[in-house]
Amino acid sequence: MEVIYKKNAEEIGIEVGDIIADLVKAKPNSVLGLATGSSPIDTYNRIVERAEKEKIDFSRVVTFNLDEYVDCGDETQTYRRFMDEHLFNRVNINKANTHFPDAAHPEKYDEEIAKAGGVDLQLLGIGANGHIGFNEPNTPFNSKTHIVELTEKTRSDNARFFKSLDDVPTKAVTMGLSTITKARKIILIATGINKSAAIALMCRDRDVSCPASVLKDNKNAAAYCDEAAAKYLL
Ligand code: GLP
Repeated sequence: MEVIYKKNAEEIGIEVGDIIADLVKAKPNSVLGLATGSSPIDTYNRIVERAEKEKIDFSRVVTFNLDEYVDCGDETQTYRRFMDEHLFNRVNINKANTHFPDAAHPEKYDEEIAKAGGVDLQLLGIGANGHIGFNEPNTPFNSKTHIVELTEKTRSDNARFFKSLDDVPTKAVTMGLSTITKARKIILIATGINKSAAIALMCRDRDVSCPASVLKDNKNAAAYCDEAAAKYLL
């Protein structure tokens, strides 16, 4: 995995957004693996900016999101809603081509991705505990899409989006670590001091205690870090 250092989140958003916009221009039927959270927001803004300016056509793009909450009482916090707001409603994507893992049939997601030809580019954030998607520490590296029990750390990190900690779902469905690593290109975004320990662990040993470290020796993966997230690497 290559680590690419950038000054701040805005710079990362521009560079990663340009990579994705260029990919869709070159291959209009690209298969994108997408992420939620604050990390990819600048990237989505850049994609939308480029799409508007250059009339980039998203109508044949196919997307597979990393994860989704199970039984999310607050409809406004579902990851589908997040994607509608930050990307899907802002480009001419065909919503029928946008996929989220289904808690009723998690195993089918890997088959659907394979049927679509596999993911060309997978975007990732990283949790403060090193999770990617919702693959919490000690998830096997060979895992496929599955249901997870969220850790208290992840629930409290995500509580800022909900009215209270009690409203944060206790379960989610996520692409597994083997699902993620099958993508032909992987871009992980990490910004802020809160991610610095996870980034250091990710680069140290390939160990299940840090799920993101599954990418350590992956030649198709790049981590874009701002100065704060890269604190222990610089
Ligand atoms: C959530 C998501 C992850 C995401 C992580 C980091 O738990 N399931 O996919 O990477 O949060 O979020 P943020 O980018 O807001 O720090």
